Amino acid sequence: MADARIIDGKAFAARLRAEIAAKTEAIKASHDIVPGLATVLVGENPASEIYVRYKSKATREAGMLSFAHNLPEETRETELLALLDRLNGDATVNGILVQLPLPGHISAQAVADAVDPAKDVDGFHLINAGGLVTGGRGGFIPCTPQGCMMLLKAVHRDLTGLKALVVGRSNIVGKPMASLLLGENCTVTMAHSRTRDLAEECRQADILIAAVGQPRLIKGAWIKPGATVIDVGFTRIEGAEGEIRLAGDVEFAEAVKVAGAITPMPGGVGPMTIACLLRNTLIAACRQSGIEVP
Ligand code: GUN
Repeated sequence: MADARIIDGKAFAARLRAEIAAKTEAIKASHDIVPGLATVLVGENPASEIYVRYKSKATREAGMLSFAHNLPEETRETELLALLDRLNGDATVNGILVQLPLPGHISAQAVADAVDPAKDVDGFHLINAGGLVTGGRGGFIPCTPQGCMMLLKAVHRDLTGLKALVVGRSNIVGKPMASLLLGENCTVTMAHSRTRDLAEECRQADILIAAVGQPRLIKGAWIKPGATVIDVGFTRIEGAEGEIRLAGDVEFAEAVKVAGAITPMPGGVGPMTIACLLRNTLIAACRQSGIEVP
């Protein structure tokens, strides 16, 4: 069998970002609106620092305003909530993103629920999360699963009836991903650390979304021939010479020989997350100004 089609998330995201930049320019010209995104980073997690820097850079490149708030590790939850209160009330800020994970003394859900749902471009607020589960409410959809769904639709025009397996049950990816797949009429199974026979679950899946953060957990031999594989994993591991490398959740070199289509890592899901964040920020700015998204 021929090797799988490689799903080029980097190229897809570049097209989406160019489209968003053009729309951003259009609303500036027609309504003098410049979307603004506030990022909040607490502590010095090196991976989070890089992600937030990428997000800010992409925001500026789209013609939007980026407001970066970097707080020390020992910031109290009440201080963070007070900052969110100020950002909620700031008309130049259309979207708010609090980078996760947060230090252990801060409740991620309390923080998510303190963001104005209209500015919740991560889609983590209870109202947006609940809206996605109950379907069709028009709230914000979390960026990573939104990007995964765009890539899936680039491969399958119609997902109806396909068996989808989501490995990982996080609020950021796994759970919203399952809701999106259900919305596309897939038959959805969720697997996690207590799943009895992960290999067997994988063998049945026409669509496999790997989002557990365990490097190369999913073996090539577990994949159903012809399946579409989306690898959300992005873990820093130490190579043989002590160098830091990035590893996905899927054993790519073997999986590519069996799958029908597969995302590479890097260059698969990661760029889509950022593009979808910009998309949500543009939508937030338009809604807050009462105009249609161009
Ligand atoms: N940490 C890992 N992924 C994400 C994300 O999509 N949004 C935020 N805020 N933090 C994350």
